[in-house]
Amino acid sequence: MKPEDPTHLWQSFQVELQAVSSKAALTQLRDRYLSRQRGLLTLQLRGLGRLAPQERPRVGKSLNQIKGRIESALAQRRRELESEQRRAQLESERLDITLPGYLPPQGRSHPLTRVRREMEEIAVRMGFSVLSGPELELDHYNFEALNMPKEHPARDAQDTLYITENLLLRTHTSPVQIRTMERQQPPIRIVVPGRVYRRDTVDATHSPMFHQMEGLVVDEGITFGDLKGTLEVFLRELFSRDLRVRFRPSYFPFVEPGAEVDIECIFCSSRGCGVCKRTGWIEIMGAGMVHPRVFSMVGYDAERYTGFAWGMGIDRIAILKYRVSDLRLFFDNDLRFLRQF
Ligand code: DAH
Repeated sequence: MKPEDPTHLWQSFQVELQAVSSKAALTQLRDRYLSRQRGLLTLQLRGLGRLAPQERPRVGKSLNQIKGRIESALAQRRRELESEQRRAQLESERLDITLPGYLPPQGRSHPLTRVRREMEEIAVRMGFSVLSGPELELDHYNFEALNMPKEHPARDAQDTLYITENLLLRTHTSPVQIRTMERQQPPIRIVVPGRVYRRDTVDATHSPMFHQMEGLVVDEGITFGDLKGTLEVFLRELFSRDLRVRFRPSYFPFVEPGAEVDIECIFCSSRGCGVCKRTGWIEIMGAGMVHPRVFSMVGYDAERYTGFAWGMGIDRIAILKYRVSDLRLFFDNDLRFLRQF
């Protein structure tokens, strides 16, 4: 390095500066030229004393100018590197606010729960109270007090799951009629949704556990006309349309007269299809006027009071409302099925 040619130093510095792409490299470059011990420029300044006295002012001035230029070039490059670094950081932390967010998992009611609640709401609007009763039931309430003594043939039809001789899984919600009448005097207007159990093999239309909703009205002067009117209104509300309802005579030990209630087939509007087996009608519940013997079992005056009762399958209604073809879907808990409701 020729001490008398400081511009050479400036040129080599500029070339080296070009190659600097990090703050660490920049610091190294600074040290290389300006470090107090061995900086290239420092050494040149220190070497001034060896020049001829008349040379010193000129070379000294020139070296100091270059020192100033190097310092400001370093500072400038440092600012550039810092802003590049900031830009890179911002870029890497960039939030794409147009990306769709993550939806939190959302729970929903089971279709059977929805139908049950809807049925309860309709009943409550019509002046009924909602009650429940035990699923583990005494023979007395499930059968005896409903006018089905021990050897009564109607017991066979119920395929009961017994726990002990006297204790069983209730086969219907009707025992809650007895429990309620034992506790309170007329007027009575109740509905009772709940689980019931029967010894059945699982298939598309059978399950050993299913759901019913019982209804009971007792007061002075209640007639079969009240039964018809109440159930017609209830069913029209439930299916949100003016559907036709049909009452057929039938037998249940705890009512007299008893009836089976059909609605017009909501799939084919009574023209006849596979669901209604070409009859145009779908059976929806059992009903009837409370048997006087049931009243006397609970100590009601059967001369003074009359009443009606009904029992309908909630699962059955869910199948019709949602057009589900297989009862098992309600109990499998497959989320792909449940998420549709
Ligand atoms: N408990 C009957 C069953 O499960 C249904 C039923 C029929 C209930 C007539 C009633 C009724 O209250 O009056 O098959």
